[in-house]
Amino acid sequence: MNQRDLQKLRLFLVEVAQEAGLLINTAQPSASTIDEKKNTTDIVTETDRKAEALIRKRLQDQYPQFSFVGEESFDSKSGVSDEPTFIVDPIDGTSNFVHGFPEVCVSIGFVIKKQPTVGVVYNPFRNELWAATRGQGAFFCGVNGKQTLPFTRSSLEFEKACIGLEWGSDREGPNFDLNLHVFTTLARTKRTGGRFVNSLRFTGSAALAICRVAAGQQDAFWECGSWAWDVAASWCILTEAGGIMVDGHPGEWSPPIDGRRYLAVRPALEGQKEFVEQFWSVIGDKRSAYGKVLD
Ligand code: IPD
Ligand code: CA
Repeated sequence: MNQRDLQKLRLFLVEVAQEAGLLINTAQPSASTIDEKKNTTDIVTETDRKAEALIRKRLQDQYPQFSFVGEESFDSKSGVSDEPTFIVDPIDGTSNFVHGFPEVCVSIGFVIKKQPTVGVVYNPFRNELWAATRGQGAFFCGVNGKQTLPFTRSSLEFEKACIGLEWGSDREGPNFDLNLHVFTTLARTKRTGGRFVNSLRFTGSAALAICRVAAGQQDAFWECGSWAWDVAASWCILTEAGGIMVDGHPGEWSPPIDGRRYLAVRPALEGQKEFVEQFWSVIGDKRSAYGKVLD
């Protein structure tokens, strides 16, 4: 696909994300329309399913030649292939959605050979759009109109960082233990063995948190356990803005899209590599159980 085709595709994805956003905005989630997936912290609503069906139909009608991976219809046996593929989360931030907490988005990524190529992230509650096309930069569109990303590119310093994290749905075992270790080490004072970073944020949507890293509103985002549909669209936005995505475990600078371990670092004039190494040193020799195949 040439740059013109990709741009046309991006415009179409924006249209589809906004249609799904309308459906989300008019929905009234209630207890009877909420189902548990893995446990009570991992939920799905009727609106997630309806939004995915709408997005899938629109994409497959327009681009029947491309594969489709969506959170609510995902088949773990087929996974993400090298084919040109739409990777969709109809609602990222479902817990926020059921609480009416306005950090919710439709996330539509397009990957070729698993490389993030187009990304559209739309927050219908705030009418905010984040988008990027590979090789053509990234932008944000909100109340003040369209702005190029990033908003800032100043040097990165670990101690001054605002870092996005997530609790995830594992609340015991090695994944939970790693989270606790990382969260407390980042937060605690240096005198007590920590890094004493400026602040930590847990906002409930990995896709939007990575967009905020692309903008420079957060210095980094780290999560082990999220899925390709949580990151595919915002990964494109991040790298087009000048940020980097590396493995959430130490060592791998070019992780796969479906590796389930992610560390996003914002665009910066200097200090990205040092920032990653500092973060990896917090993890040390501890590991989550995700994506063992990478180790
Ligand atoms: C979740 C959100 C959350 C992250 C989880 C995701 P969902 O997606 O992105 O921030 O911590 O790993 O699964 O369930 O709201 O689509
Ligand atoms: Ca979701």
